[in-house]
Parts: sequence; structure tokens; C-alpha cells
Amino acid sequence: MNITIDWLTKTTIQYFIKKINDGLSINRMDRCIEINFNATAPFPENLVPICGVIDYLKEIGFRIKVLYPKDSRLLQSGLSNPYKLPLNDYDLLSPTNRIWRYNTPEEVFKIVSAFVNHLNNKIVCAKGVVESFEWTINEIMDNVIQHSQSKYGYIMCTVYSNSHISVAIFDNGIGILQSFKGSKYRLRSPFDAIELAMRENTTRDPKIGQGNGMWGMKKIVNNNKGVLSITSSGVNISIDEHDTVLKHELKDKSIRMKTPYHLGTLVDFQFNCNNEICLSDIFGKNYEYTNLTLENLEDNQNRINVKISQFSFGCATRLAGESARNLVLNYLVQSNYSQIIILDFSGVSIIASSFADEFIGKLLQECGFIQFNNLIRITNISKENMSIINRSVMQRISEND
Ligand SMILES: Nc1ncnc2c1ncn2[C@@H]1O[C@H](COP(=O)(O)OP(=O)(O)O)[C@@H](O)[C@H]1O
Ligand SMILES: [Mg+2]
Repeated sequence: MNITIDWLTKTTIQYFIKKINDGLSINRMDRCIEINFNATAPFPENLVPICGVIDYLKEIGFRIKVLYPKDSRLLQSGLSNPYKLPLNDYDLLSPTNRIWRYNTPEEVFKIVSAFVNHLNNKIVCAKGVVESFEWTINEIMDNVIQHSQSKYGYIMCTVYSNSHISVAIFDNGIGILQSFKGSKYRLRSPFDAIELAMRENTTRDPKIGQGNGMWGMKKIVNNNKGVLSITSSGVNISIDEHDTVLKHELKDKSIRMKTPYHLGTLVDFQFNCNNEICLSDIFGKNYEYTNLTLENLEDNQNRINVKISQFSFGCATRLAGESARNLVLNYLVQSNYSQIIILDFSGVSIIASSFADEFIGKLLQECGFIQFNNLIRITNISKENMSIINRSVMQRISEND
């Protein structure tokens, strides 16, 4: 059967499933599907469930051929062949705009670390944003493993130029309503199930969970004035930035073949990286987030050691300098401006002046002389690199006169 998709919207997945079911009701023997994507907009919330369903159809024996438009962003997203671990490090260095398939806690850890690292390099985030992002995707990815009974989870994350991050996590599992079967909760509708899951301390099984994942996500997104949407067991609940709740049932309840999308779960949310998130407002005054990235960089004097030679993006371009600056600015925010950051240049041969300007020149400009002087140390730097940095800093200072 042939399916053509011209637009990608939130309802594309329903259209797609309806087409498959229509095709199957005409010819149940047709196990070949050709999908022609004319659309380009690669938003996580529509790509991830389509990817999950395609993957499921392949598992149950369908042969799927996907035609992509010239714009290869869809192809690169892994829509018909999601990214999987282990793979070469290169793909983990730019983890966004790709769909990742996972099924173990180790994979969750690697994928989350890659996202956090990427975010730290890409955008200077307001206080609490990176930590909340890390906490939330960990919880929701883990829910797939703990509760969905699906073979795999699928995640995609996109960082937009307006400083919004969009995340979608999908599974072909049993859905939230079904997950509560056998628990102490008696639920009638899938809406009640999603709402119950978002309540504090509500878990299907206290031996497995504490029931804070979905609740915490809702609180965090709300605190950030972000948006959240959960689709599970055939219904959707969306919560906007004003905390307005919208509920709707997915169309096409009539279709006979139960598709994984109707049963499974899609969680998608957007954060605004410029809006501070106060985790202690949510989890209580004494709550302290363990920032593993910073902890791993701390030396025995509580200073954060940044090894410039380990930058995956190198030291040769303006873009690399911008990533390095974003990283240090994020570490300053995350450490509450209370820890010294050491920029260790050992093992760095020669840096480009554009890198030096974008990294150190602009960092100094952004922090101001006093803060830079108090919190940033440059060590193990060669004479050549020192003079390159000195020159670019002088130039930047004189520019401002
Ligand atoms: N992907 C999912 N598939 C099925 N059920 C889910 C999924 N995610 C969450 N749930 C249900 O929602 C409940 C609440 O989830 P959460 O708040 O993360 O708490 P916990 O994971 O500690 O149980 C889970 O106990 C489970 O019943
Ligand atoms: Mg959980």
C-alpha cells in the first residue's frame, strides 16, 4: 500500500495509522508499505510516534519503504531507522534532531548525558533549566522501561533558535490506564489514569516507584511556563503555559486493528531555556540537585576543572569558541557563581584567534573584569596561546572604548 504524507502535524500519526488500517481492510495480505514524506518540518512530537509505529510494523513483519523529500533533515532524524547504541561517538556528539531508540538504563544514561552536554554547549540556560531538563527526561525515559511493557522507548529532542527545547518520548506499550490494572487504584477512563499518574506519590506499585516522575515533570514544566502534552490509551491531555488543561479523545476509535499508538504513551513537553526553574519550590526547601557533570569535574579544592583539550568541537573556529563560552557560562550558573572554574590548556597545541576571541574575549566581556578575575583561572597555557588570547582580549576591550 502507498501512503503519502504532505503535512506533519500532531494528528499525522492518526492519519498514518488510519491509512494502514484502511489498506489492511482492503487487502489483508498486503504487508508492504511505501510511505512518501513530502513534508519537512521535523518536530519531535510528530516524528517520534511515527518512528515508533514504523519500527513496530517492521517488527511484526511489514516491509516498509520510506521516500524522503530532498531536504534530508527527515532522513537524518532516523525516522525509519532510529539511532541505537552502541555506535560511534560522533552521533552522540550531536544528539539533537535525531530519534534514539533505547531499552536499558545504561542507554538512558548515555543518551541523557549526551543531551545535557549538548545543551550546555548550545545555549546559556537560566538557573535550574539544565538540571530540570536532565531530571525530567531521566524520569520519563525510565517510565518506559519500568511500566510500558514495550520493547523499546523512542526519544527526540530539538533545541530551537528561540531558546526553546522540545522533547518527545514515545513507547508502543500498554498505556497508562492499563498500567494501573492490578494496583489499588480503580480507574474508569484513560483521562482519569493520566491525571492520577500526574498526582504526587502515585505509583502503580510502591515496590517499584515513588510516584514522583510524572508529578515532578508537570510541576517543572509549569514552573518554567512551558507546555506539556500526554497521549496514552487513546486520549490526550495538554497543559499550556497558563496551566489551562485541554482534553480530547483520539479520532478513529472505530478502527479495528488496535495500533500501538492508541495503547502506548507519548509524552512531549517544551521548556523555555530563558525561564528560571526553582527546584526547591517544587521539591522542598532542603532539596539539592546532584549535578553529576559538575561533580565529575570538581577537584579536591572544590574547583571545576575544564580540560580544553577534551573539547569535542576543537579550538579552531568561532563556533567552537562560542560552544566553549556557553559551557563555562552554564557552569557558572549551575555552580551558583560560587566555585572557581579552571580552564586547563594543557595538551592544547595552537588555538585560533577567532576561538580565543569568541571564548575568552567575550567571556570576559560577559562576566565583567571583577567576576572573571574572581572565578576564572587559566592554567597550563603555552606562550603562543597566551599571546593569542592576550591579543584578542585587548582588541575586544579597545573596541568597547
Ligand atoms: N510509559 C508508561 N507506560 C505505562 N504506564 C506509565 C508510563 N509512564 C507512567 N506510567 C504510569 O504512571 C505511574 C506514575 O508514574 P511516575 O509518576 O513516574 O511514578 P513511578 O514511576 O514512580 O511509578 C506509573 O506508576 C505507571 O502506572
Ligand atoms: Mg517514574
